[in-house]
Amino acid sequence: MYKYHCLNPISQVGLDQLTEEYTPVNEAKEADAILVRSAVMHEMEFSKDLKAVARAGAGVNNIPLERCAEEGIVVFNTPGANANGVKELVLAGMLLASRDIIGGIGWVQENEEDGNIAKDAEKAKKAFAGCELEGKKLGVIGLGAIGVLVANAATHLGMDVYGYDPYVSVDSAWRLSRSIHHAKTVDELYSDCDYITIHVPALDSTKGMIDKHAISLMKDGVVILNFARNILVDEEAMVDALVSGHVKHYVTDFPTPTVTGVKGAIVIPHLGASTEEAEDNCAVMAAKQLKDYLENGNIKNS
Ligand code: MLT
Repeated sequence: MYKYHCLNPISQVGLDQLTEEYTPVNEAKEADAILVRSAVMHEMEFSKDLKAVARAGAGVNNIPLERCAEEGIVVFNTPGANANGVKELVLAGMLLASRDIIGGIGWVQENEEDGNIAKDAEKAKKAFAGCELEGKKLGVIGLGAIGVLVANAATHLGMDVYGYDPYVSVDSAWRLSRSIHHAKTVDELYSDCDYITIHVPALDSTKGMIDKHAISLMKDGVVILNFARNILVDEEAMVDALVSGHVKHYVTDFPTPTVTGVKGAIVIPHLGASTEEAEDNCAVMAAKQLKDYLENGNIKNS
């Protein structure tokens, strides 16, 4: 009989995988296994029987990896399980940045009561005119599950897509997405692209990678999208670039006080993986991983 604890609510279809041999417990410190979404576990007290932690999501920065390694606790994540949901929100982010949908909706709400919409429609068409994604250059930094889906979808929108990933060779990038041009250096991607989207993990080596210098290499009016982690971006440098207009839009799925409300910032409350499908996929994968490890000793991160 295994005791498990969910630190965050997890989809029922995932919990359904944990059959009668599994008992839910109310405290992490009583559990053999923990399921977690976004709760930060660094200060948490673990049971001496804790054997595994499964993160229903891709990033593992909320889990104390070193401590888990020292204590022999296996950590799983669910790579790819929410990638489609994130990809779709990245596309929405690019569209929000290129078409003034937010401004237009606000204008309709303000004017509908006065009945001025039909009268002022021509003014609105001018005020909220945007540009098209077709023919624009998109740079995708990080060609993992999400980056490749974004790259493929963007090519279907007629964008010219450049990929950069120091861990993916030109050949395998081509196999992952036949339409991606492979940027040889990240600087080349910075200087050539109209839209830049980041899909790398939060590591010491990636922290603050979009800094003042990186931004200075980018085109005037560039749009930067961050659906990966906020620490990848030096937010002070980003705010300066938004205020000066060098960066036209920063679309971020991380609502930090530094960027929220700044001109050109489009801030979303971490909704990339918040779809029914992604939540179900992550919960099922995480529960299956725990079960396979606890019952068969298998460590399979998929
Ligand atoms: C992830 O790392 O995949 C996301 O943070 C998932 C989530 O929203 O929980």
